Amino acid sequence: MNHDVDKPGGLGMEQTNFPKGSETPHPKLPGEFPGAEVPGVGRIDIHSHLLPGVDDGCENVEESIACIKKLQAIGYTATICTPHIIPDTFPNNTVANIARWVEQLRDELARRDIDYTIWTGGEINLSKTITDWLSEHGVPTLADSRCVLMDYWDETWPAWIDGVFQWFLDQGYQPILAHPERMRCVWNQPEKLDHLREMGVWLQGNFLPITGEDGYEADQLIHRLIEEQRYQLLGLDMHRLDSLDSRVDGMQMMLNQFGQRFLDYFTVDAPRQLIFPET
Ligand SMILES: [Fe+2]
Repeated sequence: MNHDVDKPGGLGMEQTNFPKGSETPHPKLPGEFPGAEVPGVGRIDIHSHLLPGVDDGCENVEESIACIKKLQAIGYTATICTPHIIPDTFPNNTVANIARWVEQLRDELARRDIDYTIWTGGEINLSKTITDWLSEHGVPTLADSRCVLMDYWDETWPAWIDGVFQWFLDQGYQPILAHPERMRCVWNQPEKLDHLREMGVWLQGNFLPITGEDGYEADQLIHRLIEEQRYQLLGLDMHRLDSLDSRVDGMQMMLNQFGQRFLDYFTVDAPRQLIFPET
């Protein structure tokens, strides 16, 4: 691994078995989801807009490479690329195209002799009709696992949303709601998270809100949801290079507030245990 991570004051690495959240069941569905090879060491970011030119993330390959170098410097060895799946806004973000773009970035990394693993994924914006679109264009799972990342931005929970979560569950997918701490419908009706937990939906928090950059409510809620051990996963949700530093600041703040074992659990162990349970 990259030894820069061991420098004093950095986000040093230490393999641990921080137990919080690790009891979450992840039943195996043999043969349905092939999974992917996972590096033996290093942090894994499971939510990232790293692919160049496909959404509001990195604009070009140079920016993607610059981000990867920053990520390597704090101990990351792999990223699941999760471009926005919003058919009206990004109609080309299909499973087939995302796989092709990931392959292109892999080729670029190989050409530059950069040892960094990237996988396919997506961040599905939930809507009443999204299941029709996914049925036609495929469901982008995280690194060919059964896990599916999704977000939702309206101010209230719509009546149809349970049916959409159930559509994923019925087909053996593991729905993961991204950054609930940033969602207005969670601020307005947080008890809905209890219902989603009963349904079997997992939660993924972002590192940034703890810096206060996402506002007071998100900052309060990420503390509360961490203390209640509601998150299965945490992620950077990296977009552009210029926003990466503040997201890393959020990691540093989590390290300061919750400790090394907490940070290493959520960036090293949890992705391996929950998304790559075979490894
Ligand atoms: Fe995202």
